[in-house]
Amino acid sequence: MTRTLAQMATDVLLTADGREKTALSHKYAALWRASRADGAKPIDVGTANPPLRPARPAKPELLSPRDVPKRKPGTPEGRIAILHAIAHIELNAVDLHWDLIARFSHVPFPIGFFDDWVRAADEESKHYNLMCDRLEAHGSYYGALPAHAGMWQAAEDTIDDLMGRLAVVPMVLEARGLDVTPGMIKLFQQAKDKDTVAALDVIYAEEVGHVSYGSKWFHFLCGRENIDPKPVFHALVRKYFHGGLKPPFNDEKRAEAGIPPDFYWPLADEITKR
Ligand SMILES: [Fe+2]
Ligand SMILES: [Fe+2]
Repeated sequence: MTRTLAQMATDVLLTADGREKTALSHKYAALWRASRADGAKPIDVGTANPPLRPARPAKPELLSPRDVPKRKPGTPEGRIAILHAIAHIELNAVDLHWDLIARFSHVPFPIGFFDDWVRAADEESKHYNLMCDRLEAHGSYYGALPAHAGMWQAAEDTIDDLMGRLAVVPMVLEARGLDVTPGMIKLFQQAKDKDTVAALDVIYAEEVGHVSYGSKWFHFLCGRENIDPKPVFHALVRKYFHGGLKPPFNDEKRAEAGIPPDFYWPLADEITKR
């Protein structure tokens, strides 16, 4: 019998090795796309019991952000550290998108909700592999350096709050990626590392889509409940996101992704006033 989408999502979450996890993620995304295109062999969304935390490889060692050694971005070691940090973010992103599917598959949605997050998970899998390829081209690998612990915190905090999850993960964390990626692209341009620039360009373009899925489905839920999205968004970010929103913001890409300035500026002002 074919596995349901929620079961497939859980299989990915339970796979520890990064390359294996992303290979399974690509395989299941392709199965889902094929079933949606053909309609003859539909895959049910179903339900599952995803783990509280996804399986992860033994390396990298996970440290609190303040214990992760800082390296100068202008050096080869610094650039490897950046690639390593991005690979870690992408691996978390793979799990975050599959977890969203597995954990909230019981919530009734138009099927497009699942199409969007399967696509996002598939793209994150590509991003992870791109970053691993770049690390390996520079004589390193994912796992060679310590990485930030606590990246799963947002998922655990919003384990039973779908609107909170959408507010914090795609609309805050992934939107933050849009703010900082141009600076990273510049850094690798200065280092004349064309292949890394090309990889980051792919990531930058596709992340706009993930943020837009977040905004789209957050607004969908607000509309279905007849509630005003902006104050609810502010309340959820204040509740679940610790650390504050840091300007400068990429207003252009945020707008493209459907996040208006009055969603994030009031939260940034609060932080600067403290
Ligand atoms: Fe990504
Ligand atoms: Fe993403």
